[in-house]
Amino acid sequence: MTATDNATETVVPQTRHAEAGLLPTHPLNSAEHRAYYGALPDPGRLPLGELAALLGHAGVRGRGGAGFPLYRKIVSVSGAARARRIAPTIIANGCEGEPASHKDKHLLWLAPHLVLDGLVLLGRELRATRAILAVEAGAPNGRGDLVRRLRDAVKERDVRHDGVSIELAEVPGRFIAGESAALVSTLNGGPGMPSYTEHSVRERGVGGAPTLVQNVETVAQVALIARYGADWFRGYGTAAEPGPQLFTVYPGRNRPRVVHSAAGARLWPLISDAEPVEAVLIGGYHGSWIPAPPARQARLTEAELGVPLGAGLIAALPNDRCGLAETAHLVRYLALESAGQCGPCLNGLPRIAAALEQLADPRRAARDQGLVERLERWCGMIEGRGLCHHPDGSARLVRSALMTFRTEIAAHRAGLCTGGDRRPLLPTPTRELVH
Ligand SMILES: Cc1cc2nc3c(=O)[nH]c(=O)nc-3n(C[C@H](O)[C@H](O)[C@H](O)COP(=O)(O)O)c2cc1C
Ligand code: SF4
Repeated sequence: MTATDNATETVVPQTRHAEAGLLPTHPLNSAEHRAYYGALPDPGRLPLGELAALLGHAGVRGRGGAGFPLYRKIVSVSGAARARRIAPTIIANGCEGEPASHKDKHLLWLAPHLVLDGLVLLGRELRATRAILAVEAGAPNGRGDLVRRLRDAVKERDVRHDGVSIELAEVPGRFIAGESAALVSTLNGGPGMPSYTEHSVRERGVGGAPTLVQNVETVAQVALIARYGADWFRGYGTAAEPGPQLFTVYPGRNRPRVVHSAAGARLWPLISDAEPVEAVLIGGYHGSWIPAPPARQARLTEAELGVPLGAGLIAALPNDRCGLAETAHLVRYLALESAGQCGPCLNGLPRIAAALEQLADPRRAARDQGLVERLERWCGMIEGRGLCHHPDGSARLVRSALMTFRTEIAAHRAGLCTGGDRRPLLPTPTRELVH
């Protein structure tokens, strides 16, 4: 059984509007969806320009990892489209390439029409001619065939009412596949990796048209804000990080689950059923480790944690695990999953992965006292040098491990084993290499 098979539980802790229930507990068809969330506001109620203003007021930031403000992306894509007198394309990014993350598949499984509503609303607002929902081909989901469910949901839509027709696109299941330029390349019939071009996808994306790529959770937020308003959205979270949010929680060895919460909620109760915890990974495989003591006190905000919430992964590392071995395992995976076309990924990541593996092995770490300094230097050499942010995210993870697991590093350098269980905790599926 895979970790995904287990990610079926939804809990609703700690948010002011928890009673509103962001997601249903069972999958909704189109009619059930309308009964649960209310009808999609028709164009008369949301004249052109009004939705963008509403989203700006709500302060929505992307839920796919980088947390970029949605309003600024809408302005930039619609500006590029107006300048070239060409209709833009909208993509709801449901690739969820990160193997430990389940929140996007969970959302798509339970409330696909929320994402389709968001696509329709964004499509109307930007006068788009194409709206695409991208999802991993044969996406694993313990509860059924997600792609078939999405195909059925798309068929249920009434284009005459929506005004925007939606295509479903299946893309390869790779870590890099959901990166926006890689995704656009796939949809354009090219290889699933970012290509060298002077234009961003916002300027020239699918079919050369300006393209808005948003994570499916961000797109679902659009559908909720159009119905319930910006103040409803701001009623969740904090002023700087507003809105309800989905997180995938790995409480140690216990089964992962998807939770509704929001920035500002206490972190510890989300993982409190875990055995004694050494550290917590926040954000995802491009995220950061933080030690257990500050995590115990912290609220889930970037300001308090000092690290971005990223794609919403929260993973507790039990006390008896070796954090260096876990990080080496993740970084080896990240190195293998790169598109292997830029220097930092071709030369940097494999060396960093090998050095981390050495550091994770006390006998080998003791023989080379320069490992940590080299790792720090190599992280500096790959940051900001790739065609995409894969090297930056990987370097962030490594740097946070060097800070968080200082005690283990000192022990390993002295040739001592802290007794940590070295078996990998988080999933890193082996896939065929494409390069
Ligand atoms: C290596 C890499 C992989 C990514 N994978 C995903 C993904 O699977 N899903 C996703 O929504 N965003 C992914 N992103 C982020 C996208 O490039 C893009 O920023 C995001 O889809 C924009 O949506 P948002 O602003 O709503 O977050 C990835 C980025 C990188 C660098
Ligand atoms: S930085 Fe790495 S993952 Fe990104 S395009 Fe270049 S080789 Fe591929």
